Amino acid sequence: MYRSLLTIQLQAAFTAAGITLPEGFSVAVELASDTRFGDYQSNAAMTLAKQLKTNPRALAEQIKGALNVEGLCSEVSIAGPGFLNFRISPAALASKVNAIVSGEACDVAKTGAPRTVVIDFSAPNVAKPMHVGHIRSTFIGDCLARVARFVGHKVITDNHIGDWGTQFGMIIHGWKTLLDQEALKADAIHELVRCYKAVNSACAVSKKDEQGNEVPLPPDVVAKAQALHETCKGELVKLQQGDADNLAIWKECVRLTMEQLDKVYGTLGIHFDYTLGESYFNDALAPLVDDLLARGIAVVSEGAVIIASDGTKAPENDPFLIKEGDAWKPTPAIVRKGDGGFLYATTDLATINYRVNEWKADEIWYVVGAPQALHFRQVIDAAARMGHTTKLIHIAFGSILGEDGKMFKTRSGETVGLLEVIEEAIDRARAAADEKEQGFTPEEKDSIAQTIGSGAVKYAELSQNRLTDYKFSWDKMLSLKGNTAPYLINAYVRTRSIFRKLGDSISLTNDCALTEPAEITLATKLAQFAEATHDVLSDHRPNVLATYLYELANTYHSFYEACHVLNSEGTVRNTRLLLCEATSRVLKQGLDLLGIKTTERM
Ligand code: ARG
Repeated sequence: MYRSLLTIQLQAAFTAAGITLPEGFSVAVELASDTRFGDYQSNAAMTLAKQLKTNPRALAEQIKGALNVEGLCSEVSIAGPGFLNFRISPAALASKVNAIVSGEACDVAKTGAPRTVVIDFSAPNVAKPMHVGHIRSTFIGDCLARVARFVGHKVITDNHIGDWGTQFGMIIHGWKTLLDQEALKADAIHELVRCYKAVNSACAVSKKDEQGNEVPLPPDVVAKAQALHETCKGELVKLQQGDADNLAIWKECVRLTMEQLDKVYGTLGIHFDYTLGESYFNDALAPLVDDLLARGIAVVSEGAVIIASDGTKAPENDPFLIKEGDAWKPTPAIVRKGDGGFLYATTDLATINYRVNEWKADEIWYVVGAPQALHFRQVIDAAARMGHTTKLIHIAFGSILGEDGKMFKTRSGETVGLLEVIEEAIDRARAAADEKEQGFTPEEKDSIAQTIGSGAVKYAELSQNRLTDYKFSWDKMLSLKGNTAPYLINAYVRTRSIFRKLGDSISLTNDCALTEPAEITLATKLAQFAEATHDVLSDHRPNVLATYLYELANTYHSFYEACHVLNSEGTVRNTRLLLCEATSRVLKQGLDLLGIKTTERM
């Protein structure tokens, strides 16, 4: 990666110039913001000059003089008050293109500091509707796992499904009284959700009017609802005490849900190393709370066990305080309720112990929506107090909105499950393919529609800044123009069609020689694939890679317009074909890191 190579050389130049860098000073090289002056830039000389109170331009000159970038740069220049600009030489770029074509993994170097990273994503809840948050989590988490593996980390993916909790009182009662066996066979998740929702609404003691105000229901309805609620609670207690019937129902609910989810994950090419689920930690909860109490990390408060502010932090940095008006309101994490029940936070803390002890996790990444920010602040703080040094990161994201700017729904209305979204996308891609008759067999059409449909949904997600809410638009995401999966897959298809035209007759030699500006621009972009993949992880943002691939496809199209490929000859032709092949590989590899498949024709 040129950025690291240049950083090393720049650091060496400071030493060679006899300058000792102040402690903690980092010599940073970045991709150039304006490529007219270079491909990479650094403001190290400027920043240092400020600290040393010397002339920045003179310092930059001194560093430039001591810099050894032979074979790497064709030009080093100084701009403005002391920016250093680096232009990579065509010869270096040419050997990079050769390496991308002949090497493994598009010649992206692995990280020098591999870590064991547990990625916690997807995590839907058994017999509760899967909502858009789970969809975003699934795609972002899978992409981060792919990229982290690609750059050399040891990644463990764990689907922490919600397979335990108070909802099972209602689910079990629904199972015993409302279950339709046929419907269960046809679509288990749907039927379980139906039963859960029916019981849940029958337990309601009030309803919302048009203005959204709670209005109490008539006394006889309330009495019935309260009685039902007690029945459900009874079912839950029986389950928790190990009642054989209820345990069997619970197990069956989890099994049926997982069976169906695994199919969806399979279609999407998403793999989990583990699906331990919340229930896996049941036995660890009581000892955990005892330990927290014994060590004074948790305290008893009004019968419950809580972890509260330790008062050592400024209010704005205290994870147990949130601002309400002008005042700071305490929001302790509850780890055991007054009735002895355990909570979401308790399970998460037990899960951290497990991941650290069993898997030796250096980092745990939680890909979970922004509404759970408070929960993770508290859990992360509690884990630190427990003595964990593992880096825990909440990778939050915003919501998906419908085209009307309101909550997102599918064609069928109601809930938005992952499965429904993907099926609808594939249907739409298939309909678009049917419009254009291109001599594909029905099987080929199905496979192309699969690739384009699921690719389009994933890319629409991954090309967004994860923290902003984004509008879900079928037409936009399936369009062949613009920043979409079909556009990128089509760019790949176009690179392949060149080689199809040439047939077997073509064998490329490893002697790329770049001369035309469009060739050099494309090679520069190809070389930056390494930076793009590594940068995804600096703030856990898949859109960094998506943007890179989109720019690469555009650069490739400009190159193809400016330079004849098939009609050229000799070394020129070989060079240009190498550029096409390298583009093809980087597009395929890059899309694969986003979890998107490619097709040879479309
Ligand atoms: N099941 C949870 C939900 O649907 C998400 C779990 C996220 N992971 C975790 N370790 N808390 O909201």
